[in-house]
Amino acid sequence: MLAPQHPLDSLLSRQSVGVLEEPAPHGADLDLILDAGLRAPDHGRLRPWRFVLIRGDARAALGDCLVAAATARDRRAPTSQLDRYRAWALRTPLLIAVGARIRPGHPVPEIEQVLSAGAAAMNMLNAVHMLGYGGMWVTGANTYDTRVNTALGFQAPSRLVGFLAVGTPKATMPAERPERHAHVIEWNGPLLADTEARPPI
Ligand SMILES: Cc1cc2nc3c(=O)[nH]c(=O)nc-3n(C[C@H](O)[C@H](O)[C@H](O)COP(=O)(O)O)c2cc1C
Repeated sequence: MLAPQHPLDSLLSRQSVGVLEEPAPHGADLDLILDAGLRAPDHGRLRPWRFVLIRGDARAALGDCLVAAATARDRRAPTSQLDRYRAWALRTPLLIAVGARIRPGHPVPEIEQVLSAGAAAMNMLNAVHMLGYGGMWVTGANTYDTRVNTALGFQAPSRLVGFLAVGTPKATMPAERPERHAHVIEWNGPLLADTEARPPI
């Protein structure tokens, strides 16, 4: 008899998958993934999340855009690097550019608006995995490049938080996971003596 599944089994088995193939989620599966993104916590109900779907022929245009931005950043960017950007866009079944539409000067600080978009990205990555697909969150210089942001509809101060590369896992490596104790402390109030510096967490 199979052991009963724990509700968190699926979440705890998530790992990023960089080597992807077709098919990408579409239709009802993609809708579920996007809806998971829209369940991210959001201070002030600002709904800062914006998702830009890039698939099919649009991937070639994204590749061109990444290459143009990289060349503008560095006119001597090696061809091999430019080829890698283009190849990555073309071979990824589905790219979801995730960003935050920032309300500048709002009482909810900008960092919280950006964090909320990050939470949406994470929710979508989890949903991708739970539906049996694979995904990976990728940033790199292009995510912080104004030209790429503008091309995808993010005018400053609105900004990308990254690209989710999504498809079907072609290969997965067992992921090493950290020990809980290395990341968690129990806090029992400040130390009494100033000299007793608490070790950095
Ligand atoms: C905000 C963010 C940006 C990332 N950008 C990149 C990236 O540009 N390139 C890359 O190889 N990994 C990047 N990663 C790491 C991968 O998404 C992934 O987390 C890592 O390969 C570890 O795999 P795991 O998620 O299974 O632990 C990024 C992760 C985060 C959270």
